[in-house]
Amino acid sequence: MITVRVPAKVNVQLGVGGLRTDGFHDLANVFFAVALGDEVTASATGPGEGVTLTCSGPDAAVVPLDDSNLAARAARLLAARHGLAEPDVRLHIDKAIPVAGGMAGGSADGAAALVACDALWQLDTPVATLLELAAELGSDVPFALLGGVALGRGRGEILDPLPVTGTFHWVFAVADGGLSTPAVFRECDRLREEAGTGSGDTDVPTPDADPALLAALADGDAVALAGALANDLQSAALSLRPSLAATLRAGTEAGALGALVSGSGPTCAFLAKDAEAAAAVAEALRASGTCRTAHATHGPVPGATVLP
Ligand code: C5P
Repeated sequence: MITVRVPAKVNVQLGVGGLRTDGFHDLANVFFAVALGDEVTASATGPGEGVTLTCSGPDAAVVPLDDSNLAARAARLLAARHGLAEPDVRLHIDKAIPVAGGMAGGSADGAAALVACDALWQLDTPVATLLELAAELGSDVPFALLGGVALGRGRGEILDPLPVTGTFHWVFAVADGGLSTPAVFRECDRLREEAGTGSGDTDVPTPDADPALLAALADGDAVALAGALANDLQSAALSLRPSLAATLRAGTEAGALGALVSGSGPTCAFLAKDAEAAAAVAEALRASGTCRTAHATHGPVPGATVLP
């Protein structure tokens, strides 16, 4: 039995380019791994049982346990890569990452399942191959393997680790219900069309990482990072879920240094001065009635890791 711990992510910068002909957008995506995470356990089963999936945690009821789940797809993809037939493995997800929340929880489980099955089946798959399989599973899966802080280019799967100093303190306000990532990207395109700027990759310049944001990470400067937080999907998420404006306001009024929608939302992320300030912001958000719950956490933390 192998258990893997895997982090959620927040995008401290999410620069979104135009819509490509393959249906994806070119990104300048600064991923940041936080301690709020899931645990995926892989255990052997009898021959012929196939891949079975179970889930625990407060949101277990809304986690899809069919073949669309990235953990199940990861197990099959890894087996196929090694020329193995339909694998027999039991996967259990202990879920703390908000579901459909813009924190790459499904992607995290896919990355964790790759690492857990690799260890269970003693395959010793090279990291480069795991990253390749991860990219096949989804744009955010490679980063969940890597963790830390990294710049994602292309559709987010081409990663370069970034230097970072110290620990940053975060609060995540979890909304009622999720948002569909493709729907938020589509709304981003629609808003660009409506504004007359166009939404294709020949209309929108390819985004770049913000040097001020990279310097803030390297310096461990939370105030500077708060000032540089940027998400090109935020107006689309707010357009689909206008109530998020009140959540962002509540966290800011409670003393957060900075606030933004996490990825495609609807989770909202708040940067705090220190652990104490983060706890106070989380408390104020829970009392505000503008979210379902709020978690204080920190990062960066490593990517998918086998627990001893
Ligand atoms: O790669 P992943 O399966 O996570 O992407 C889900 C959807 O999000 C894509 O089908 C696409 O609609 C959108 N997306 C995008 N540009 C990206 C990443 C995702 O448009 N860079």
